[in-house]
Formats: sequence, C-alpha cells, structure tokens
Amino acid sequence: MQRMLVIDDDAIVRDVIETFFVDKGFDVTVAEDGEKGLQLLTQNTYDVFFVDLVMPGMGGLELLGRLAELNITTPSIVITAFAEVRTAVEAMRLGSFDYVTKPFILEELLITVNRALNISKLKQENVMLKKQLRQKYNFHGLIGASPRMQKVYDMIEKIADTESTVLITGESGTGKEVVAKTVHFNSSRSQNPFIPLNCAAIPKDLLESELFGHEKGAFTGAVNTRIGRFELANGGTIFLDEIGELHPSLQVKLLRVLQEREFERVGGTKTVKVDVRILAATNKDLEKATQDGTFREDLFYRLNVIPVHLPPLRKRKEDIPLLIDHFMQAFCKKKKKELIKVPPVIMDCFLSYRWPGNVRELENLTERIVILNDTGTVTIDDLPERFHTDRCEQAAEESSPAAGPRVVLQTAAAGTTLPPEGLDLNAVLNELEKGLILQALERSGGVKKKAAELLGLNRTTLLEKLKKKGIELPAPEKVTAS
Ligand SMILES: Nc1ncnc2c1ncn2[C@@H]1O[C@H](COP(=O)(O)OP(=O)(O)OP(=O)(O)O)[C@@H](O)[C@H]1O
Ligand SMILES: [Mg+2]
Repeated sequence: MQRMLVIDDDAIVRDVIETFFVDKGFDVTVAEDGEKGLQLLTQNTYDVFFVDLVMPGMGGLELLGRLAELNITTPSIVITAFAEVRTAVEAMRLGSFDYVTKPFILEELLITVNRALNISKLKQENVMLKKQLRQKYNFHGLIGASPRMQKVYDMIEKIADTESTVLITGESGTGKEVVAKTVHFNSSRSQNPFIPLNCAAIPKDLLESELFGHEKGAFTGAVNTRIGRFELANGGTIFLDEIGELHPSLQVKLLRVLQEREFERVGGTKTVKVDVRILAATNKDLEKATQDGTFREDLFYRLNVIPVHLPPLRKRKEDIPLLIDHFMQAFCKKKKKELIKVPPVIMDCFLSYRWPGNVRELENLTERIVILNDTGTVTIDDLPERFHTDRCEQAAEESSPAAGPRVVLQTAAAGTTLPPEGLDLNAVLNELEKGLILQALERSGGVKKKAAELLGLNRTTLLEKLKKKGIELPAPEKVTAS
C-alpha cells in the first residue's frame, strides 16, 4: 500500500484529498501545518506527499528547503492558488516534483501522484543499479570489487571534494596516480589544472625551480622568469609523486607551502600566494623515514592528514580476473583483435602469482599477450619465464589436449635393425634418451624449460629424468622479472 501525507491548513482540502485517495487504496496521513508535516516526514517514510504553499507558520517553500537540507527526497506535490504559480516554480527548483492549482480536479491529482510515484521508483532503481555496478567492478576507471578496494572507493568519495591534503601510499603499480587523478576530477577543482610532479625524477637543484619557479638571472641559465608547478596548479591540484625522495632542504620549503600556501620563486623576494590542493604519494614507509631522520616529522603529519592506502594485488586476488578481463578487452580492441580467451588453468597461474609489480605488471603482461598471441586462447607459452612454475606448467600440460611429443623421432636409432644376437632394449632406449636430453640441453643453452619443450616434456618430468640418469644439472637459470 502506498503511503501518502497531506499537509494543508485547510481542513476541507485535507478531507477531500484523504477521502479520495483512501478510496483509491492509499494509506493517507494528514497534517494541519508545516511543523507537524516536517516532523512526520523526518520520522516516517512516505511514498509521496502534498504540501500547501501558503500556511500560517512554516509554509511549503520553507518546508521543502528544510527537507533538502536533511537530504529527504520523498516526492512532493505542491498545492497552490492560481496566483502563486511563480512560487510553485520556485518550489520545483527546491526539488518538488510537481504542482497542482486550486481548485483541482481529483482525477488529475491521481494522474500527478501516479507519475510522481513512477518517476521516484525509477530514480530509486537507478541509484541502486549504479551502486551495484560500482560494487561490481568499476569506480571512475579503477577496477576492483574486493572489499579492500571498496574501502578505497568509499574513502575517495568522502575526501574528493574537500580541501584536505591526502597522502596516497602503496607499492609500485598499485594505482596511486590513478587515485590522485580520481580525487582531483571528483572535486570542485576539476575544471582547473591537475599538475603532477615526480620528485624522484628531477635532480635536487632543478627540483626547487620546477616546484616554485625562478626569477630571471636566479642562476646560470635562468634567462627568463619562469613560473613553477605550484603556480601552474593555482586553483587546481598538485600531485607530488614519490614525496619520500624529497631533499631535506625542499622538505622545509614544502612545509611552508602546506602551512601558508605561499613561497618565493628561486632568486626572488616577492612572496607568491597560491590556492592549491596538495596530494602526495609514496611507496616508502614515510613514518619509518621520520624515525630514521630522512623525512621531517612535521611535514609527514602535515601531508598525512588523510591517508589512503592501496593494497597490493596479491592481497586482493579476487580482483585479478576482473583486471585481466578489463585489460584484455581494452588491448584487443585497441589492436583490433578478436577477444583472446583466458582458460581457467592460465587464470589459476595468475591467481597463484605474487605480482610484485601489481596492476602495472598485470597491464603490461596483458598487452604482451595480446601482441604475441595468434591462437585466440592464452597458453603457458604466451607467459614469461617467471610464470613457469612447476605447478602451472603441469596444470597447463594436463589440460592441453595437444600435449605430448609433436614430432615422431627421426634418428638413426629409428632405423636400427635388430642384431642377430638380439639386444637389451631398456639399455638402448636409456642411452638414446640420455643422448637426446643432452642434445636438447646443449641446444637450449642449459635452459631446462626450453630443453623440455624441445623434447615435448614438461619441466618437472625433465628434471626427474635428469636426476634418475645422474645427469649433472647445468647452473640454474636466473629468472629476472621484467
Ligand atoms: N585499480 C585499477 N584499475 C585499473 N587500472 C589500474 C588500477 N590500478 C592501477 N591501474 C593501472 O596500472 C598502472 C599503474 O598505475 P599507477 O601509475 O597509478 O601506479 P602507481 O601506484 O602510481 O605506481 P608507481 O609507484 O610505480 O608510480 C596504470 O596504467 C593504471 O592505469
Ligand atoms: Mg606513480
């Protein structure tokens, strides 16, 4: 049953509306003034309400204004005398759904009410769908449905449109820069510049001028006055990446900007004032750096007003399939290829991998697969050496229908005729096997995985054979993460 509230000081209007809508199956409550109406609206939930514009005490407009402040979005229909239509328009601006003029035709009220109810239902569904969509996997281009990422999204939502300084921490490739951009573009500064600066990428002497600018003649080569990133970011946001690498002399200067929002250009005496939001990021443990004395404690606290920590990928494994899926679609589209499939065994390899380079590593790997793969399905051969753990190889081999030797042996042994006196088949096969293994190892430069491939074996099986035959293992290969 739909719940309706009627707020009007005119008892006749209240009665007429109540009788009519009760008859239509509504659950109707009435209030004789604005104060009572507001109280009922804050304490109960209604699907729709009527409110008279002009009442002694709190009028309809004031009531709508109060509801907007309280974030109560119950659809409302304003009742007004013909002469007040302009005020009714103002009411609609305050969020009222529609208005009806006195005297009214009851059937028309019913149409208006039904329309309000339908639209409100659609709006609610829309909010819910958007929320579900976000919870599924995507928040402003950030992919991840894990509870840890949901926390990050909630935090971004809360802090984006504030002036607070934010310190974003997390391992390399976890998305610190993406988060900084998301914060900026969801703030009221979004129309103004977002200026990133990597503090580790610029030598200390140049960094000061890069940050604060310089006056003409400040140092050799300073032929013109140049404004720095802080001035460029005026009205917007500056993103100081790898802040942990900032030289102590610049830490002092940054502290002053954080406190006063002012500085002098290098070689200048004039104080420059800026209106800049500061976001910083680091993959270092800055708190520890303050204890070691390499990072100023006062600066750390000024920066760390709002900490946002990005979890490493290995701590939110449920996001791995979503990320693979996302990048696979994006790269296949970009390279104009049909979508490449990732079979479950390969996904298992990804899930058991540690991802030291986090999302960036995953993104790069997906791009590499899309470039190299011609079959439309990812196989273990598409993956770099570091993924070739015994477990992954074995799983891949077992699941592959084409597993096994590809070429039937064509050697002298194949044509060997059985000597009249017979032979020791096991010994001959053993020797043959040993000879071929040694050849494969030689040809692969001692890389066991390649040797195994040449022999149509998986790496584990090859290792077992080497052990059984007492073949000295070549020096272990160095696996370097690319
Ligand atoms: N949650 C995510 N969803 C989608 N893409 C992501 C996500 N996190 C990171 N990326 C992508 O991964 C790459 C690395 O992200 P980013 O540069 O923000 O990482 P970072 O933490 O700043 O790394 P570093 O410390 O090395 O500078 C970018 O291409 C970014 O688009
Ligand atoms: Mg970065």
